[in-house]
Amino acid sequence: MTARLRSCSAASSRLGPSLLALGLAGAPACGDDAPAASAGGTATSEGTGTSGLDTTAGPDPDGTGESGDSGTGGDDSGYEWNLPPGFPAPWVPEDNPMTAEKVELGRHLFYDTRLSANETQSCGSCHEQELAFADGKTTPTGSTGQVLVRNSMHLTNAGYSFPLTWANPNLPTLEHQIMVPLFAEQPVELGASGHEDEILGRLRDDPLYQDLFAAAFPELDDPFSFERVRQALASFVRTMISGNSPFDRYTYQGDTNALTEQELRGLELFFSEALECHHCHFGFNFSGATRHAGTVHESFAYHNTGLYNLDADGAYPLGNQGLIEATFDPDDMGAFRAQTLRNIAVTGPYMHDGSVETLDEVIRIYERGGRLIDSGPNAGDGAVNPHKSGLVAGFTLTDQEREDLIVFLGSLTDDDFLTDPRFSNPFE
Ligand code: HEC
Ligand code: HEC
Repeated sequence: MTARLRSCSAASSRLGPSLLALGLAGAPACGDDAPAASAGGTATSEGTGTSGLDTTAGPDPDGTGESGDSGTGGDDSGYEWNLPPGFPAPWVPEDNPMTAEKVELGRHLFYDTRLSANETQSCGSCHEQELAFADGKTTPTGSTGQVLVRNSMHLTNAGYSFPLTWANPNLPTLEHQIMVPLFAEQPVELGASGHEDEILGRLRDDPLYQDLFAAAFPELDDPFSFERVRQALASFVRTMISGNSPFDRYTYQGDTNALTEQELRGLELFFSEALECHHCHFGFNFSGATRHAGTVHESFAYHNTGLYNLDADGAYPLGNQGLIEATFDPDDMGAFRAQTLRNIAVTGPYMHDGSVETLDEVIRIYERGGRLIDSGPNAGDGAVNPHKSGLVAGFTLTDQEREDLIVFLGSLTDDDFLTDPRFSNPFE
């Protein structure tokens, strides 16, 4: 994977037929080259009436016309995903097939502070279940006290993310990404680097892990290695699937009462051409491109949404400039991944650096077509950032409409996910 694509070719078709029936699919536009269809438009949301909702249509979440591919797909281990209606099975690497035993081991490791060199932090320290595995902080502090520059992502449906994290195109799988919190040295997260034997020794000495590792990797004489730790963690994170929000019950489960009138008004706004939200947060996951079992065409996009504009070149704050840090292409200044909006009501503060406190503030930034920072080191008008996506052109909402949109985003919260015992801390 070397090329970064600027367009999400399948974007417009990634809405399921039930949403297509709503007339909610927009023009095939997703990348930064896409036309600003409704620059400066007001949110009148014509033609998005909800009355035509066909909740009986079979879900086809990736819009390939190949619905029903909700089995194990690329993973033929026969793992029982118990997928929500409308969801494809996650993509699974061939060398790490899913098993219930690996998932159980991964769940223990996820919550085990013995995984950090100084035994102070686990994955769960920055990824808390009741916050959809975000942490409520602007940016987190690693186990040795170093502050990270990026906001802790929530892990809702992280198994579908491709690539992983806010702006690193070189992390195609969970197995790759998990190397970062384990071994990163600048800044340190769990700090395992240089302490590998010590950490593995702690696990090996615990009878609980003797059993869990043996069950997860029965073919190995000595399963205690970071390779297996990563595989188990990735398997666990892959099961963090959230798809039982009121929106899902309405759209995929035929419950026409699941959304209130106000939520439906917000839904129409979200999918309107004036607001453009669904061109970047699209498909069953309300996110940028997803990868799942059976994905034929892997494409992804990063966008500059006009949060900063420090100089004539549209600079973002040094040390947190997005895709450009990986590609060194000036056009990639400020480009980040469009994170899933599922469970978004509980995952604030928002954006790659946690610099936006509330959803109300997020929407006002999009309304303005970018963020104005009056004073201080980051002063500047993001709305005129030369690298800003044409899809962030600005629009006008009444207070009522803004509230409706926020309430709709709240209907993407899946309370079952936030409380599901399968994802909880097994040590509590
Ligand atoms: C010190 C806090 C911290 C710890 C500890 C931590 N993470 Fe994270 N996690 C983050 C931050 C910050 C990001 C966003 C990173 C970025 O974009 O550069 C992130 C991103 C992720 C993502 C990417 C999600 C996506 O959709 O792309 C996954 C998966 C993840 N973490 C899993 C884990 C696992 C598993 C562990 C334990 C091995 C862990 N994290 C430990 C802070 C942390
Ligand atoms: C041009 C593509 C694009 C459009 C259009 C767009 N978004 Fe986003 N959205 C993004 C990207 C990229 C990010 C992350 C930006 C960053 O962190 O710098 C984001 C972040 C967000 C976040 C915060 C996510 C988090 O986990 O912190 C919310 C909420 C959000 N968008 C909602 C919306 C809504 C509502 C609309 C429509 C009014 C919208 N977006 C339109 C691309 C887009």
